[in-house]
Amino acid sequence: MNFEEIAALEKKVLIPTYDRLPILAVKGEGCYLYDDRGKKYLDFLGGLAVNSLGHAHPELLAALRDESETILHVSNLFYHPYQAPLAEKLARLSGLDRVFFGNTGTEAIEAAIKLARAYARQHHPAEPFERTEILAVENSFHGRTLGALSATWPEKYRKPFEPLLPGVRFVRLNDVAHLRESFTPRVAGVLVEVIQGEGGVVELSEDFLKTAEELCRANDALFIADEIQCGLARTGRWFAYQKLGLKPDVVVVAKPLAAGLPLSALIAREHVAQAFSPGMHGTTFGGGPLQCRLALKVLEVMERPGFLEHVREVGGYFRNQLEKLCADLPVIREVRGEGLMLAVELTVPCKSVVRKALEAGFLVNCTQDKVLRFLPPLIIERRHVDELVAALRPIVAALAASEMKGVTV
Ligand SMILES: Cc1ncc(COP(=O)(O)O)c(C=O)c1O
Repeated sequence: MNFEEIAALEKKVLIPTYDRLPILAVKGEGCYLYDDRGKKYLDFLGGLAVNSLGHAHPELLAALRDESETILHVSNLFYHPYQAPLAEKLARLSGLDRVFFGNTGTEAIEAAIKLARAYARQHHPAEPFERTEILAVENSFHGRTLGALSATWPEKYRKPFEPLLPGVRFVRLNDVAHLRESFTPRVAGVLVEVIQGEGGVVELSEDFLKTAEELCRANDALFIADEIQCGLARTGRWFAYQKLGLKPDVVVVAKPLAAGLPLSALIAREHVAQAFSPGMHGTTFGGGPLQCRLALKVLEVMERPGFLEHVREVGGYFRNQLEKLCADLPVIREVRGEGLMLAVELTVPCKSVVRKALEAGFLVNCTQDKVLRFLPPLIIERRHVDELVAALRPIVAALAASEMKGVTV
């Protein structure tokens, strides 16, 4: 079936949850995605931070091929060879101790909320009140299942499904005084994205994060870092929290972990992890052999000398190029982000930029209406950045000109 046929069929048979761009993706290779007409797109979206090693990485494909011919699924009633080594590696890289594997980001957030409650109940059984509250941050995104959704800020996502989880409260972004005020003895955990992704690549301040960590420590609540988008080398560090020397009790990762197969991990400190015992939490598919073997290969590639440095180097170069664009084009308000999690905020909506970029052969994303977000494969090079920035310049300039004239492009 060609693009028109697939699009027409989807319109009839899919529940309309997605607003798709007009591309029928049929192949990926390195930093490029190809559509059914053979057109190639330089991918600065990376499957929304999933394809960190690019498309069709030969070593990943070899591991996938081999494992798929060996065993596809084993239930969590049995051992298989890959969960333990993967958990060991994630524990070492994060500086935490134990791992629970799930499938998606939102599911790992659910596990983190459950763990926070279970920990509070076990460690503070005699308190005359329930310690069940979760503090999240305004402008955050933690997922779409009911628990994770309760901690997700935009009202448009939450409203249609209320009532949500009771006891989830939001703290104003980077407002330390409000954080202190909001932190009561009923708080079981504080959930943060060190760099908010869907929120438009917004960094939480050092002061805010350190205060959250201190308050958690002082009150024996869990400090939970959602590294689903900003973690696993995206910022040029294994985890974004490492830049500030933070020591979360729980870290959650997903997106790039198994290079596109669903796999998430909740990583916890030893004493926290002990709050879960057999039967308290589980999943059928989480941590399957295929996903875990692939994830081991992903981390092996990322651990090679120079990988993280490359992300920092190209990321720094990319940021500089965006700063230059920002200096030349007043329609760009500011550049944000780190490593290869970058964004420019425009003074006008950027949906049309995404479409124009697509026509020009580039995949970029618009979030929060005015924020152009870039989450490319971590293997991109300076020449790819140059190509993108050269293509964006006239597109953004034309948008600015048309806005001034009041024309829609
Ligand atoms: C920071 C963050 N947390 C949680 C999620 C939810 O992950 P998933 O879509 O895999 O459920 C996302 C997805 O974009 C995310 O960026």
